[in-house]
Amino acid sequence: MGFIEEINKRKTFAIVSHPDAGKTTLTEKLLLFGGAIQVAGAVKSNKIKKTTTSDFMEIEKQRGISVATSVMAFDYGGKRINILDTPGHKDFAEDTYRTLSAVDSAIVVIDVAKGVEEQTEKLVKVCRMRQIPIIVFINKLDREGLDGFDLLDEVETKLGLSVTPLTWPVGMGQRFQGVYNIYESNLNLFDAHGKQSIGEVVEINESETDKLNEHIGEAATVELQEELHTISEIYDKFELSDYISGNISPVFFGSAVNNFGVKEMLDCFVEFAPNPLPRETEQRIIEPTENKFTGFVFKIHANIDPKHRDRIAFLRIVSGIFKRNTNYYHKRIDKKLKFSNPTSFMASKKSIVEEAYPGDIVGLYDTGNFKIGDSLTEGEKLDFIGIPNFSPEQFRYVLNANPMKRKQMDKGIIQLMDEGVAQLFTTYDTERKIIGTVGALQFEVIQYRLEHEYGASVTYEPLRIHKAFWIHSEEEKALEEFKKRRRRDLAYDKDGKLVFLAESAWTVKTIKDNHPDIVFHEKSEF
Ligand code: G4P
Repeated sequence: MGFIEEINKRKTFAIVSHPDAGKTTLTEKLLLFGGAIQVAGAVKSNKIKKTTTSDFMEIEKQRGISVATSVMAFDYGGKRINILDTPGHKDFAEDTYRTLSAVDSAIVVIDVAKGVEEQTEKLVKVCRMRQIPIIVFINKLDREGLDGFDLLDEVETKLGLSVTPLTWPVGMGQRFQGVYNIYESNLNLFDAHGKQSIGEVVEINESETDKLNEHIGEAATVELQEELHTISEIYDKFELSDYISGNISPVFFGSAVNNFGVKEMLDCFVEFAPNPLPRETEQRIIEPTENKFTGFVFKIHANIDPKHRDRIAFLRIVSGIFKRNTNYYHKRIDKKLKFSNPTSFMASKKSIVEEAYPGDIVGLYDTGNFKIGDSLTEGEKLDFIGIPNFSPEQFRYVLNANPMKRKQMDKGIIQLMDEGVAQLFTTYDTERKIIGTVGALQFEVIQYRLEHEYGASVTYEPLRIHKAFWIHSEEEKALEEFKKRRRRDLAYDKDGKLVFLAESAWTVKTIKDNHPDIVFHEKSEF
């Protein structure tokens, strides 16, 4: 198969959801369709179930397990599909944000009973920033839930997505009879007893009342016909180009655990979802079809064995062909590196890969050369953009508790930050170190890992900060004045970029009003 065919075959995406909506279950069903696994239950949940600090080791163990399921590749309908897993736990949301930089589309899973939940909102916001095409899967139709139209309204208002349903449920909960496939005009009948199997599909047009009556009964037929009529009046007809440009999201209904409505979505996914897309660098846009290999690191996973400080860096191939045992240029450290054991994650097993194509993800064993965002090329100096940091939600001063181990602490903190465990800020006037995280859990993770992997000991001091903003100004004088007046609220991030640490939402507003020449950014790239 030629290079271009290999690229066109690939679909790289992530499933995102609020914990418990059914992401793991859906992933598993997709893998079953792809033949990548044979039995249900084979996918280890990447979900961190317990969150108390005493369960910290358990969490690390689970994170270790999740390396194997970080990327799952399978073939379906002539396509090579790469699913990138994202941690469900909200304290690891930053991991998810970065993973989204390596995908070309996303599937959002929503629980029909709970509707749009907090974590879904945050994740979809990041998808939208990147204009990633999104498919919505409304799950758990075998349970009572919200009305279909109300749900679609909620998706539109809370997630800011324009939607068009491509399937529609016939009843729900006890009355759930199946889904009508608007896109293909057929009815997939649900059999509550036939778990894991695909229901009976009847070719039927919505206007064929008698046939519908026969299968779902009169009352349900009337309701379905009315609803389908409303859909045709309210929602735009699905246009592929609108989906690809991220302007419209097709919606599917089903029940992942019953493997119902999943195939409809998967079939549309392989037909519609984008092939590997170009990526931006500071220097130029890189097309996947370029002959020379380029790629970037979007995730680093530490080995859970503290005796081995090696890590796996996850590389997204952007262009060209990545080859084993070939020298590639690592721009940030200005060195050539070659990889003897690059790993692929085909069929949920790790194996050494000889070649990888745009859209693929390979795991590189790393002894500390990589940090998130690094680029590898055949020699060109490129800096990929689109892997920004977002403001942490919790901040604490970090203090050295063992003066004899300062060097170890400094090294450990830098390495953990390179892995993306948390963000480090250094205050502008006093050069104190602040660690910012998405959730409280990371503070425990950092403390534990510094001790066990680096022999260093730290404590924290609370700090009241609402949010970090990356700032800049076209007016040098205004910026200097701002620095003078707000020096106590300023810090540098790990790349030396200036950050304003706002104490409250109210401060942000007044400060913005008082300093119109200063631009406040919610992410580190602007
Ligand atoms: P997550 O990865 O998004 O966190 O969710 P996960 O797939 O683990 O699913 C969360 C729970 O919802 C699981 O139940 C799962 O079985 C259930 N579930 C998934 N899809 C459906 C569905 O279509 N209908 C119904 N009724 N339930 C569904 P659990 O009790 O937490 O775990 P388990 O013991 O069943 O595995």
